[in-house]
Amino acid sequence: MSEPFRIAIFASGSGSNFQAIVDAVKQGNLDVSIKLLVCDRSKAEVLHRAEAAGVPAFVVQAKDYLSREQLDAAIVQQLDEVGPIDLIVLAGYMRLITDCLVQPYFGRMINIHPALLPAFPGMHAIKQALEYGVKVAGATVHFVDGGMDTGPIIAQKTVTVNNEDTLENLTAKIHTVEHELLPQVIQTIREGKVQAEGRTVRVF
Ligand code: GRF
Repeated sequence: MSEPFRIAIFASGSGSNFQAIVDAVKQGNLDVSIKLLVCDRSKAEVLHRAEAAGVPAFVVQAKDYLSREQLDAAIVQQLDEVGPIDLIVLAGYMRLITDCLVQPYFGRMINIHPALLPAFPGMHAIKQALEYGVKVAGATVHFVDGGMDTGPIIAQKTVTVNNEDTLENLTAKIHTVEHELLPQVIQTIREGKVQAEGRTVRVF
């Protein structure tokens, strides 16, 4: 049996992607050990999901730190205490992260974004795409660099936008593909089948 692959998940809100990862592990489709949830909102629904799944949570709140760097340094320290982390998964983590966190985990940190990057980075991506009138939308998983949703793209999955789509049901459609895509990408990384060279990411 191979060594366990240890991941930390960062989330701020409902945590449906966190749940998709937990469920994929339970169903035997994802061979990782979830060591920690990092959450920046003390009332986030994802904290209940973590408790139910038996995943320890580290809650950081901006008001307790003098700077973004200090907050990220506290996270790095907590990750060190938990033990070596092979991959950080940003799954709806609503904070911009600083170099304190990006540097030590460069190439070992991924993010899921609800748009086909490089279109519609940042907040309210689904609303932006719908208002722009796109006919194809989707989700992207990418490595994290210092920018806003700018890191090398690992995988994307599309959905068709129909005449009758509203923000609500397009959001639901994109969430559905996210919940498939994110565990699949994590498993592919776990199997060593993702190679990055600059912006080009090869998936085998
Ligand atoms: C997802 O749409 C993800 O792409 C974005 O934030 C949302 C998080 O949703 N980064 P949830 O908390 O996983 O339900």
